Amino acid sequence: MTEKTGKTFSFKLITTDGAARRGEITTPHGVVRTPAFMPVGTQATVKAMYPEQVRETGADVVLGNTYHLMLRPTAERVARLGGLHTFMNWPHTILTDSGGFQVMSLAQLRKLDEDGVRFQSHIDGQKYHLTPERSVEIQGLLGSDIQMQLDECIKLPSPREEVQRAMELSLRWAERSRNQFEAMGGPGKGQGLYGIVQGGDQPDLRIRSAEELGKMPFEGYSVGGLAVGEPQDVMLSMLDITTPVMPVDKPRYLMGVGTPDDLLESVKRGIDQFDCVMPTRAGRHGLAYTRYGKVNLKNARHQDDPRPLDEASTCPASSVYSRAYLHHLVRAGEGLAGMLLTWNNIAYYQYLMQGMRDAIGAGSFEDFYSKTKEDWARGDI
Ligand code: GUN
Repeated sequence: MTEKTGKTFSFKLITTDGAARRGEITTPHGVVRTPAFMPVGTQATVKAMYPEQVRETGADVVLGNTYHLMLRPTAERVARLGGLHTFMNWPHTILTDSGGFQVMSLAQLRKLDEDGVRFQSHIDGQKYHLTPERSVEIQGLLGSDIQMQLDECIKLPSPREEVQRAMELSLRWAERSRNQFEAMGGPGKGQGLYGIVQGGDQPDLRIRSAEELGKMPFEGYSVGGLAVGEPQDVMLSMLDITTPVMPVDKPRYLMGVGTPDDLLESVKRGIDQFDCVMPTRAGRHGLAYTRYGKVNLKNARHQDDPRPLDEASTCPASSVYSRAYLHHLVRAGEGLAGMLLTWNNIAYYQYLMQGMRDAIGAGSFEDFYSKTKEDWARGDI
């Protein structure tokens, strides 16, 4: 089932429009058109969607999580079964997060030191030790095309000393992750490893982190530690100062972001890749993202409405099923409600990314930006 390209990791910057960038990442499992939104498939599944459907919406890459998969079904088992692509029937590109972020939010009794993080599984209490080396080893066993260094992401606001300590630790872990990746032959297998910029809401720490990482030979660079409690304008001001000091010829990935507006604003500031649970999670909670903003299908105003969410959409979930039916499914607690709304939401996110890619290619990103904001402001009527 694994559809290998025989190619090694590369990034081509095709064109720019202001700071916005249109590009292409090539991995052993295909081409990723950037800017790209990567649906989250934490447990080797994009919740409530078939892999074929995810692909059909236009996704070139999905995200998997080291933390969840190392606990269950374990990286060694996935490797024995032919790797994550085969296991989950996703023959296209897979990116994996390194686990540090999820350990800090999910694991019990975690203890972090220079060497790594010790924690107990949230599933059965079993003890684990995740180090930068082990994280890269696990991502290699999974067969991930785009891997992340182990880092420490802290919530905001946090004292400057804490932000600085975590940023400096993440830099040391970046070097250890890189050494392990090279030792395992990652670049030779065509895979890529990204370093992660930290530094919280402190401009000088962000710049130092980006500059130090830029001296290390990563295939791409992530911006972490954002969308962790700070207002949007703080996040965007961090991007304003960070992207200009990141390597121009490598992809830039903003981790865990965001709303459609976050994506539009971040592409404008030179970001190439995103992931977020928002469209999938919101779909399972009765919320639809559309060209005209968010629609809450729980609301009684939809109960007699025969119109689809968006008749112009190419996604059946958006153009075929009536709002009245979707409202009924949500109210009745039916599984199909989550399936249809997740499908709609991922299709909308991909439509938005395609719109941005086309606009950058045509040199009309500013027009696209204004028109998209106008449509959202019009609201769902
Ligand atoms: N996901 C969202 N933010 C982060 C981050 O800062 N680090 C990692 N590893 N994953 C993330």
